[in-house]
Amino acid sequence: MKLSLRHLLSVRDLTKRDVELILETSRSFKGISERDIKKVPTLRGRTVVNAFFEDSTRTRLSFEIAEKRLSADTVNFSISGSSMAKKGESFIDTIRNIEAMKPDIFVIRHSQAGAAAQAAKLIHGRVVNAGDGQHEHPTQALLDLFTIREQKGRLKGLKVGIVGDIAHSRVARSDIVLFQKMGMEVSVAGPATFMPFGIEDWNVKVFTDVRAMLPQLDVVMALRIQRERMGEQFFPNEREYARFFGINQAALHEAKESLVIMHPGPVNRGVELSTEVIDGPRSVILDQVTNGVAVRMAILYLLLGDTKEM
Ligand code: NCD
Repeated sequence: MKLSLRHLLSVRDLTKRDVELILETSRSFKGISERDIKKVPTLRGRTVVNAFFEDSTRTRLSFEIAEKRLSADTVNFSISGSSMAKKGESFIDTIRNIEAMKPDIFVIRHSQAGAAAQAAKLIHGRVVNAGDGQHEHPTQALLDLFTIREQKGRLKGLKVGIVGDIAHSRVARSDIVLFQKMGMEVSVAGPATFMPFGIEDWNVKVFTDVRAMLPQLDVVMALRIQRERMGEQFFPNEREYARFFGINQAALHEAKESLVIMHPGPVNRGVELSTEVIDGPRSVILDQVTNGVAVRMAILYLLLGDTKEM
């Protein structure tokens, strides 16, 4: 079975069947990371370039580990130390030059929305968007979805709430579209300045009080405040944010016992979530990280691999 697309740029491009295929394939790849020898020959002889024009910890390591577990040859490009940083080479010229070395797949992160899509037009191989500005982060949304299904055993009809900086978050944008595609009901909560322009058209319930939203939810996703994408006028005070929108034990008082708590990382302890909640029994934040490797293995395999070799 194959995906209906050549590049993974946006969750909007995925059919429901594509999503099911990625979830199923991720499940079979998850076991590889639990073995003693964590490697299969699936992508032997394929070259993957991880081109990170913006900082990353989890996403970059997760892709690299996924690629190595599939036996691909991996090369990492990061902006610091490159000719882009020191010699003013443009993004497009940088991509063209890497492309001239004939990699099979590019994993691209960039601070500009649309960067991965722009690169896809120049590249013969495949492109995976690993986060473009505040636009999309499709592999994060897929690993979030996988984690929710693993926890809940189903997707359709689940109520998910996303809390915090919706306006500047590519995770929120990809999560909302993907979760709705799979039949989940999405609500958001956060200060008015963190709500994007046009949110009325997103088909989400908007709460200005997180405590009013929490009791209804099966899953809650807290987001980091994206300071690097905003001016100071948006966000005066972390303590104030924590008081009204931070999730601690008291805020969870009326939440369902089975509520699952998620965060894409990096977490600011004591701001969007309290330490006891991050390390508590409802938190699946590290499961998200574990699952990220399996989901990225599945995506790379489905975009590149030969089904016969699995
Ligand atoms: C997010 C990102 O970079 O988009 N992190 C991630 O990839 N797991 C969210 C963030 O930076 O807050």
